[in-house]
Amino acid sequence: MSGGGDRRAPDRRRVLRGGALAAAWLAGGRALAAPAVAAPPAVPSVMLSPGVAMPMLGFGTYSLRGALCEESVADAITAGYRLIDTAFVYGNEEAVGAGIRKAGVPRQSLFVTSKIWVDDSGYAPAKRAFQATLDRLGLDYLDLYLIHRPRGDVAGSWRAMEELHEAGRIRAIGVSNFDAAQRAALAATARIAPVLNQIETHPYFQEDAAFAARAAGTGPRIEAWAPLAEGRNGLFTDPVLAAIATAHKRSVAQIVLRWHHQRDTIVIPRSSNPAHRRENLRIFDFALSDEEMRRIAARNLGRSLFPEWT
Ligand SMILES: NC(=O)c1ccc[n+]([C@@H]2O[C@H](COP(=O)([O-])OP(=O)(O)OC[C@H]3O[C@@H](n4cnc5c(N)ncnc54)[C@H](OP(=O)(O)O)[C@@H]3O)[C@@H](O)[C@H]2O)c1
Repeated sequence: MSGGGDRRAPDRRRVLRGGALAAAWLAGGRALAAPAVAAPPAVPSVMLSPGVAMPMLGFGTYSLRGALCEESVADAITAGYRLIDTAFVYGNEEAVGAGIRKAGVPRQSLFVTSKIWVDDSGYAPAKRAFQATLDRLGLDYLDLYLIHRPRGDVAGSWRAMEELHEAGRIRAIGVSNFDAAQRAALAATARIAPVLNQIETHPYFQEDAAFAARAAGTGPRIEAWAPLAEGRNGLFTDPVLAAIATAHKRSVAQIVLRWHHQRDTIVIPRSSNPAHRRENLRIFDFALSDEEMRRIAARNLGRSLFPEWT
């Protein structure tokens, strides 16, 4: 997989590109004419650890099932997504795997994340759950495996994940929905620190403490779930977001995803709409001003919009 690093100045070697045409063009260098069809947008990546680059924008699959999930994943990859986020509890790992195969992109250019559910917590159950996830996906390794929620025998699950990581079965390991106290409890027994924490964050729930910990070097990298808040609280018609969108001739979704990017956050928006999927990829060719970032910061309600999941 291509490397990553400075998200603000990705160069050609450090950018993940998709599509056979783009690949042929890059392989051929200047000897070939540029493809007639536009190459998929370049998505910057970050280094999770030496040699493990993760795209900063990927495709979420929560609630997508069966043929819709398979089609959506295949089309997302064709459109240029390389990071795909799933979880045992979404009940769609088989369909995600089928979508990956249908897209026909080499495995090593994809970045696949799944998550261990609370019912599988503990050393032996976590090892079994991991293998079952691989079997459903039809893959022989994961790029990132997360503890989905901080419940049950977290220390046992983590020990299993550390071993699987060291055996080369998982390229990076992390957590999801962990607060500072839960991260500290994990740190008491962990040999390897989580590379990231996937948490709910969007303009209405900005999780400033998690970002402050990250900035201070005491917290892991942040990946946003529900980066568009699933449209809750009227996000897509929010007057402040809509005004900024109009000023940039962009959609509200693009403004929100760009805001995340400028906060150095990995995002995994989900869409069952092919046009939305493509729109959401096009956030790397414009920038929000400091003043616009401040206006969005002022939209923070400081509370989860998904209390039913906590
Ligand atoms: N770790 C966890 O506990 C956890 C929890 C929840 C989610 N996740 C992960 O995070 C991913 C993202 O979160 P999410 O799926 O809950 O919500 P989301 O990505 O914030 O929002 C998805 C919704 O936004 C709409 N949408 C997407 N792009 C749009 C656009 N350009 N214009 C208008 N509407 C647009 C989609 O509708 P259309 O289909 O009509 O486009 C869909 O209804 C999940 O899919 C999952 O992979 C993880």
